[in-house]
Amino acid sequence: MTAQTTLTASEEDLQQHFDRTIGEDQRIEPRDWMPEGYRRTVVRQIAQHAHSEIIGMQPEGNWITRAPTLRRKAILLAKVQDEAGHGLYLYSAVETLGADRGELTDRLITGRQKYSSIFNYPTLTFADVGVIGWLVDGAAICNQVPLCRSSYGPYARAMIRICKEESFHQRQGFELLMTMMKGTPGQREMVQDAVNRWWWPSLMMFGPPDAESPNTAQSMAWKIKRHTNDELRQRFVDMSVPQAEVLGVTLPDDELKWNAARGHYDFGEIDWTEFKRVVSGDGPCNVQRVAHRRRAHEDGAWVREAAAAHARRNTSE
Ligand SMILES: [Fe+2]
Ligand SMILES: [Fe+2]
Repeated sequence: MTAQTTLTASEEDLQQHFDRTIGEDQRIEPRDWMPEGYRRTVVRQIAQHAHSEIIGMQPEGNWITRAPTLRRKAILLAKVQDEAGHGLYLYSAVETLGADRGELTDRLITGRQKYSSIFNYPTLTFADVGVIGWLVDGAAICNQVPLCRSSYGPYARAMIRICKEESFHQRQGFELLMTMMKGTPGQREMVQDAVNRWWWPSLMMFGPPDAESPNTAQSMAWKIKRHTNDELRQRFVDMSVPQAEVLGVTLPDDELKWNAARGHYDFGEIDWTEFKRVVSGDGPCNVQRVAHRRRAHEDGAWVREAAAAHARRNTSE
C-alpha cells in the first residue's frame, strides 16, 4: 500500500516535470521520463519520416543513369545520397527511444508502417526531377522547418541539418526547371506536364484536413508538431504561386486565386479519395517501391551479418 502510494506520487512528479519541460519550450531528451503515448507518437512519426526519406530515393534514383549531362548527374547523385543520409539520421534518432531499426525496416517492407504518399507516383521524364526538387522538397521544407523546434531533442537536432540540405534540393529543382523553361517548346511542355501531375499530390503531402486528423491536437499539445496540416498546406500554396509565376508555369487549379480578405491564396478541393487510396497501399507505384526496398534489404543481409560478426570479434578480444 505504502509502496504503491510512493510510486503514484513519483509518477505524478515525473508527469509534472515533463509538462513543465514542454510548457517552457525545453527539449525532452532520451533519458528523460516521458508518457508512453508521447514515446509511441514520436517513434511512429520519426519512423515514418525515416522510411519516407529512404523510399524517396527511388523515384529520382531512377533517373541517375539517364541524366542528360555530367553536371545534372552529379547534382542528382548528391541529392539522392542526401536523402539516404536523412534516413540514417532519423533511424538513429528513433533508436534513442529504444526502437529497433531492424524491426522498423521489417514493418516497412511488410507494409505495416506507412511512408509519405508522394513517393508512390512515377517519374516519367527528367522534368519530374526538377518538379520533385521544387515542389516535393519545397513541401518537405514547409513541414520540416517547424520540426527543428520539435519537443523531442534528437529529432529537432536532426531536422536542423536535414533542412539545410532540403533547401539545396529545392534550389537545384528550381534551377533545373528554369533552364528547361528557357529551352525548346518541347522542354517547356515537359515541365508543364510534370507540374500538372505533381501539384495535387504535393498538396496531399501535408496529410488529411485538420477536421479529419485526430492526432493533431495531442501532437500540438506535446509540441511534437507546431502547426496543423491545413496551416502548413496554406503556407506551401502561398509560397509556390509566385514561384510558378517566375517559372512561367500554370498550376492546374482553376480555383486558385488571391483572397485579399484572408491574405492567402484560395485553392480547389483536394481529391481525398485518391490520397486515402495511395497512402493505404494502392497508388500507382506502392507495390514496386516496397518490393524494391525489400530486395535491397535482402541483398544487404551479408553486410549486416559481416558487421555483426566483426563487432562480436572486437568485443570478445
Ligand atoms: Fe530529405
Ligand atoms: Fe530532399
